[in-house]
Amino acid sequence: MNIKEYTTDILVIGSGGAGCRAAIEASKQDQKVTIVTKGLAFKSGCTNLAEGGYNAVFGYKDPEDSLQLHIQDTLKGGAFLNDPKLINKLVKESPKRLIELETFGCLFDRQDDGRLDQRAFGGQCYRRTCYQGDQTGHEMMIGLKQELIKENVTIFEEIMVTNLLLDDSNKKVLGCIGISQKNSDIMIFKAKSTIITSGGAGWLYPVTSNAAQKTGDGYAIAYRAGVDLMDMEMVQFHPTGMLSPKSRKGVLITEAVRGEGGHLINNKNERFMTNYDPRGELATRDIVARAIYNEIQEGRGTFNGGVYLSVAHLPSKQIEEKLETMVLQFEDIGIDIRKEPMEVAPTAHHFMGGIRIDENCNTNLENLYAAGEVTSGVHGANRLGGNALADTQVFGRQAGLTAAENASKTDSNINYDSTKSIQEEIGLLNSLIGNDGKYKPSDLKLELENIMWDHVAIIRDEEGLKTAIKKLDQLREKITNVKISSDENYNIDLQTTLELDNMIQIAYLIIESAIARKESRGAHYRSDFPEKSNEYEKSFIVNNNKDMTTVIRDFL
Ligand code: SIN
Repeated sequence: MNIKEYTTDILVIGSGGAGCRAAIEASKQDQKVTIVTKGLAFKSGCTNLAEGGYNAVFGYKDPEDSLQLHIQDTLKGGAFLNDPKLINKLVKESPKRLIELETFGCLFDRQDDGRLDQRAFGGQCYRRTCYQGDQTGHEMMIGLKQELIKENVTIFEEIMVTNLLLDDSNKKVLGCIGISQKNSDIMIFKAKSTIITSGGAGWLYPVTSNAAQKTGDGYAIAYRAGVDLMDMEMVQFHPTGMLSPKSRKGVLITEAVRGEGGHLINNKNERFMTNYDPRGELATRDIVARAIYNEIQEGRGTFNGGVYLSVAHLPSKQIEEKLETMVLQFEDIGIDIRKEPMEVAPTAHHFMGGIRIDENCNTNLENLYAAGEVTSGVHGANRLGGNALADTQVFGRQAGLTAAENASKTDSNINYDSTKSIQEEIGLLNSLIGNDGKYKPSDLKLELENIMWDHVAIIRDEEGLKTAIKKLDQLREKITNVKISSDENYNIDLQTTLELDNMIQIAYLIIESAIARKESRGAHYRSDFPEKSNEYEKSFIVNNNKDMTTVIRDFL
């Protein structure tokens, strides 16, 4: 294994929608920008997989909608846990960022008169979700890639970042350290400003819509460095993931299916959603996911343990034009959605919790910024479909701007002696590579996912959450006794062990926050405290260096 050191002005960890947008903006401010990503740039990450759309108000074109209504829907959808300053920024800037995406080369679908088309999405009083068929995120990544290439940003792929670099005061971030998956080289990146945009942690659950890289590494490196994380108990389950075959379990079936008029149906052929919410299929995701769960629990599910989602009553032309990916996704498993229903069940989708930021994407550490799903605050207790893609662009750009401003004021010499960090990393790698332990890392990862699914998923209670802690304690012991191959090139066991260590850390934080919140709000449903309580109109903040604290929401 070799040691490689690089220096840059701005370091962006992650290469999804928020990371690319941050890098573009920082580069436009004449900074030297480097992206480091665990997967392959433009191909990994969840933006690519987001199908249905991007929420933006174009009220000057359509007076029925307004910024105020978008703010209200987001707050209501987030069960009033959202940070109002962040929502204001999201809603006000989202339309501008969409038009900017078009200047990067993305094309959003239009109406016959040339105005942007918008579709209905859950929890919104107006149809304000702009889209490109059911490939919106993919279209965005194409434009972002083109713009990023013009900006000449340096990209390092297949690097797992293992820690942030801190100065002696432990208050300033000076870059990061990581391991190359290709050859186990130790990589040091020194930077004046570092931006975390590494996305969520859907793979804490065995059924997820997320890309394979989403193991919560960004939360873990931030937490270890003393960054405030907030609302960690708030995990969104998208109501409709594929159910079978096993290899496709969890794969996203876009909310656009319901937005275009799809019906959810139980095994008695009943459209059941209005029994739970007058908005029917277009209620917020927390409500629809719990309704589906309930139908299944009460014996009205399908043989495979899901419910049906049908568009067979819609015109074929509409299905083919607006839901092309869905047609192909199901054609691939022998189902023609123009005639037959899809079988669906909830799938782990989005983390509303994460790094605490202000409206300029500052964190509580100097030189450290964050944007996108790795952050918290904007979506509160439950995110509206279509607000995540907007989030990546609004806060990605802002993080790039703030980081560039900081870098422009910072001395060009980054005084960091990497000797100690390198020694620690070598020690870690030597203790892991070739370790002849008892457990296969991938088995332990599955064990963690099952603990989370069984006790910390859609419905929670104190007993289950405490059981999960006990099981995690046992799992943490086992991780010291793993079997890892001695290969230095693409050592999957090594990678899985490092990821698992992060995942266990994050799982504890989710559970501790879920135990503290003795009420039900948004995506966090406690069967032992089924009601929302005024006492809990506050967010829980966890920090490695302090006890759990709270912040009260003030909407005045
Ligand atoms: C979807 O198309 O349902 C996913 C997009 C989102 O989560 O906003």
